Amino acid sequence: MDVISSVRQMQDCAEQLRYSGKKIGFVPTMGYLHKGHLSLIQRGRQLCSAMVVSIFVNPAQFAPGEDFEAYPRDFNRDMALLKAEKVDILFHPDTRELYPEGFQTYVNLEKLPKHLCGLSRPVFFRGVATVVSKLFHTVKPHVALFGEKDYQQLMVIRRMVMDLNMDIQIVGCPTVREADGIAMSSRNAYLTAEQRPAALSLCRSLEKARQMISDGVSEAHRLIEAAKWIITSYPNTQIDYISICDPETLEEMEMVERPALMALAVKVGTTRLIDNTILNP
Ligand code: PAJ
Repeated sequence: MDVISSVRQMQDCAEQLRYSGKKIGFVPTMGYLHKGHLSLIQRGRQLCSAMVVSIFVNPAQFAPGEDFEAYPRDFNRDMALLKAEKVDILFHPDTRELYPEGFQTYVNLEKLPKHLCGLSRPVFFRGVATVVSKLFHTVKPHVALFGEKDYQQLMVIRRMVMDLNMDIQIVGCPTVREADGIAMSSRNAYLTAEQRPAALSLCRSLEKARQMISDGVSEAHRLIEAAKWIITSYPNTQIDYISICDPETLEEMEMVERPALMALAVKVGTTRLIDNTILNP
């Protein structure tokens, strides 16, 4: 596996891969890899002949007071995992390389960030869209893979690629879960053993909603009330949002009479967790 930290070198290498007829698959990450990340790489392998993974904890998507400094990092462990997956190139720039002095160009979406996570994390999607478009211009992938766990992020990337005519196929991949059902996340590393039952309440409330839908319930407020009840029955949980919305526009829905996205964000102690499911009446 080649490890590249310079933008110029990565661009040259991508150009060579393209020239030699390779189809480039790309998985952008912030590292501290788990099976969710690895599932994207494995899917990419099926679709492409060269795989590039990036590890970059992107300061532009963290607001002051969020966990940028504390975000878990373990570069050597990540390298070993990527080698085992036979990744061709690891792109690992430092902050200076992606945000040199004088940097001032950002990618903003008008509507999608005004829902769900964007409400409590106002700079988040601008940071994500900016870094992902920079990474796309550097890695020059044919295919880029993103997890459905970060559903709104996936929608933002799809929209950006369409709006800016980027010639890249975006592939969404299903959420990989722990044996107990918790969605895998690098931030799960923050959870204490006592907090895990509370963390489980996110997927439990999505399960409950799917159950209620199959029992014929269609009022969104009833599904949300049931989820609130489950989550707040654990100590140290603080609901950021529970939303039932249109899977494309993310506009709130009152009745689930067609497929809907149920998405939620909950703080367990100081750790902010998200999860989602599609409700199919
Ligand atoms: P990160 O949280 O490291 O996630 C990298 C990719 O892995 C994202 O596409 C995310 O949706 C996916 N992923 C995370 N957990 C998953 C799970 N349990 N199952 C399936 N896929 C999962 O998301 C980011 O980094 C950043 O915002 C980034 C896109 C790299 C931009 O900085």
